[in-house]
Amino acid sequence: MSEALDRAREYELLHEREIAPEERPAFHLSPRVGWMNDPNGFSYYKGQYHMFYQYYPYDSHWGPMHWGHAVSTDLLRWEYLPAALAPDTDCDGGGVFSGSAVTLPDGRQMLMYTGVAGTKREIESGRAIQTQCLAFGDGRDYEKYAGNPVIDASCLPEGGSPYDFRDPKMWRAPDGSWRMAAADDFPGEGGRILLFRSDDALRWTYAGVLAENSNRIGRMWECPDFFPLDGTHVLLASAQDMLPRGFEYHNGNGTFYMLGDFDPAAERFTPSCDYAADYGIDFYAPQTVLTPDGRRVMIGWMQNWDTCNLHTRTRPWFGQMSLPRELSVKNGRLCQAPLRELEQLRAGAGVHERLAIENGEISLPGLTGRKADISLEIEPDGELYHKFSLFFAKNSDYHTGLSFRPRESTLKIDRKFSGSRRAIIHQRRALVRHDAGALRLRVILDRFSAEIFVGNGEQVLSATIDTPPEAEGISFRADGRVKLKVDGWTLA
Ligand code: FRU
Repeated sequence: MSEALDRAREYELLHEREIAPEERPAFHLSPRVGWMNDPNGFSYYKGQYHMFYQYYPYDSHWGPMHWGHAVSTDLLRWEYLPAALAPDTDCDGGGVFSGSAVTLPDGRQMLMYTGVAGTKREIESGRAIQTQCLAFGDGRDYEKYAGNPVIDASCLPEGGSPYDFRDPKMWRAPDGSWRMAAADDFPGEGGRILLFRSDDALRWTYAGVLAENSNRIGRMWECPDFFPLDGTHVLLASAQDMLPRGFEYHNGNGTFYMLGDFDPAAERFTPSCDYAADYGIDFYAPQTVLTPDGRRVMIGWMQNWDTCNLHTRTRPWFGQMSLPRELSVKNGRLCQAPLRELEQLRAGAGVHERLAIENGEISLPGLTGRKADISLEIEPDGELYHKFSLFFAKNSDYHTGLSFRPRESTLKIDRKFSGSRRAIIHQRRALVRHDAGALRLRVILDRFSAEIFVGNGEQVLSATIDTPPEAEGISFRADGRVKLKVDGWTLA
């Protein structure tokens, strides 16, 4: 093992003790210590889910990237394993960037990641060379391939950038050969997702353009994932520097999805639509896994690059993953549902109420706390109401609100009063479909985050909050007359 990896493993073992369990999310993965960004190598291997992540153990801010590692049997309760990769070779000394994992026919797990090589100055100015590299392991320890890098700039088509060539996502084709999609920047036209193929998983060749930006959505695209689902194909990618378009793409850097047809002979994807994958504030760089029972489950980094470096250095950890979300395609939209295993965390029988609220605010006995699963059905009671709001993580000093205005069809998350001391955007609005003021929502709270699933999950709003734990209130408010059905549970 290299000195750099050994040092990271010792460091995390020593310093994770400084973080009490209640100072972290309960069922969202957070870094063992220090900084976390993108999910990497999300896979099912030897009976467990593996999640690696972009990791800098020594600080709660981004630094030379390592891969952290955790395993789980239900995607909700995670156990940390020692850091898997450190920046310790000629082709990745500047950072071990994002990538993916597959199981080889001989039973080994293979990781493909982006190696960053260059001087500190080159790295900081975005002029470091990015190549794709391999490591092989047993689910705990990984050895980097002596033949790294396996894909470098010489494989790129004309106009591609060797400095922004990253985030390989591998899968196995039906005939047993391998495919990999990686992001590359084509200065002037934005990102492209390039396809590579291999017969032995070691020697890779360029196989064409899977999708291209042509200056439609932001600039560079990062972190692709590509898979068949419900009779169509889905491309997920995360765009940098997006321009807002109506209610889409307000996140600076944010994730979008495209649905479309894939022609297996030509290996060409023809997208027919694109939408934001999340309409909240914090969601980026997701990866998916296929579960043994056939579910396509997505986890993203629940943060936003524009707000993730504003905290003090004294924080022992920063960054968390989203809930695992089961994906499906319905009515031309990618729908997301909280992983069904989440229901096993529901404590007790829950609170089940049907009520009417008229120009007032109520809370329900038994429904408080920072870990909750709340389903709501909101309906007009007579005339169309003006606004319905849910408040959570609330006391006299703090609250975060979710409000729905049926006349505007907008659902807004507002974390202005969640404890932030920075002048940053704290709100986001989504245009939602509803049936004359009737709307279904499911809200999942886990200490430092809220994820709101709208209707059948065709829209989701995710946001992190930095609210002191004693703010535990949950309340419902109507401006106008609202009929409300609540099924809520606190979560273990
Ligand atoms: C996306 C990203 C990736 C890169 C990684 C570096 O959030 O910029 O493209 O591999 O983060 O940490």
